[in-house]
Amino acid sequence: MKAYCKTFGCQQNVRDSETAAGLLVQCGYALTDTLRDADVIFINTCAIRAHAENKVLSYLGRLKKLKQDKPTLQVIVCGCMPAQPAVAAKLKEQFPQVDIIMAPDALPKLPQLLADSLSGAGRQVDTQPNATWHEPLPVARGAVTPEGVDNSEALVTVMSGCDNYCSYCIVPYVRGRERSRRVTDVLSEVQAAVAGGFSRIMLLGQNVNAYHDGDADFPALLRAINEIDGDFTVRFMTSHPKDADVALFDALAQCDKLEKHLHLPVQSGSSAVLKAMNRKYGREQYLAKVTALRERLPAVRLTSDIIVGFPGETEADFADTLSLVEQVRFDQLFTFLFSPRRGTPAASMADAVPDEVKKERFARLLALQKRIETGEG
Ligand code: 5AD
Ligand code: SF4
Repeated sequence: MKAYCKTFGCQQNVRDSETAAGLLVQCGYALTDTLRDADVIFINTCAIRAHAENKVLSYLGRLKKLKQDKPTLQVIVCGCMPAQPAVAAKLKEQFPQVDIIMAPDALPKLPQLLADSLSGAGRQVDTQPNATWHEPLPVARGAVTPEGVDNSEALVTVMSGCDNYCSYCIVPYVRGRERSRRVTDVLSEVQAAVAGGFSRIMLLGQNVNAYHDGDADFPALLRAINEIDGDFTVRFMTSHPKDADVALFDALAQCDKLEKHLHLPVQSGSSAVLKAMNRKYGREQYLAKVTALRERLPAVRLTSDIIVGFPGETEADFADTLSLVEQVRFDQLFTFLFSPRRGTPAASMADAVPDEVKKERFARLLALQKRIETGEG
């Protein structure tokens, strides 16, 4: 019996798929890269923007024929899409080819859901949030890495969920409240990955700076990981600028195993837009953090995310974004067109930016970043 895993979305999802793959292997499945050979297809989905959801829906559409040809095939849809009740309902109604619909928190129950579905109990649905970690997390490391993602790097989740409620973001609704793993569990997973030959570790969390286990905060966790013996490097993602502080920058500067890189999503260079986004910092505070970081680590590689065309974004707001990008000179930028997400405050905000304006601003931002990266600007 063979299982095929397909992952959409972020590295959190890749790590969750590795847990799913680990569980499927424990259930006796061999992992395959060939969709047609699969007896089980596990699809991990992303809901961050409409484009991400549309890609998943068209992929699911293509599985219909496969399921008709092989009725015993089990199709499992997990991840951030089914964690939204409206999307779970749509999957139930419009996608009969799907056998199991589950949220990421239901992963530990995957073997049972699969056994029940196979025994003819009908379609299985488990989309309830559940804040308990099941330790250790089984993992088929690197086995399900999507194309283009570095599989020499071991992904280690340190925390999950988000309590920030940025007004555009679906994550708090689909990933639930913030919760951290125990320091000892994280250290064991890093040790096992290093012993297994991985030379790079990527620590994951929707907001790693919210990590805490008793008295241990994220900088303390980084220092403890830095003490682990072995020849390996560590990086982490993602940091919220409101929580990234000098304790983090000091750890980054002082721990020799830490890659000198910080991903610090700014989202906009306009304080008015940042306020509407509920980011809890303004332009000047962001710039002050960058200065504090570069004082400690002048050569740090700094990357960021920016959303273009947030509701109410004026030409002057956008000019503030361009000037911030010019001032900071990020090493790399991930840029996104604002995409309204059902249930988030921004989805019903007035003054939507017209598509043509969004696209035109997006092109200007990309052109600026390209000039900076190629050293021409
Ligand atoms: N529209 C566009 N981009 C978004 N992001 C999050 N939510 C949205 C949305 N509704 C972007 C943010 C975040 C990155 C992972 O995705 O920039 O940092
Ligand atoms: Fe997409 Fe966010 Fe879910 Fe990751 S956590 S898969 S980016 S919606």
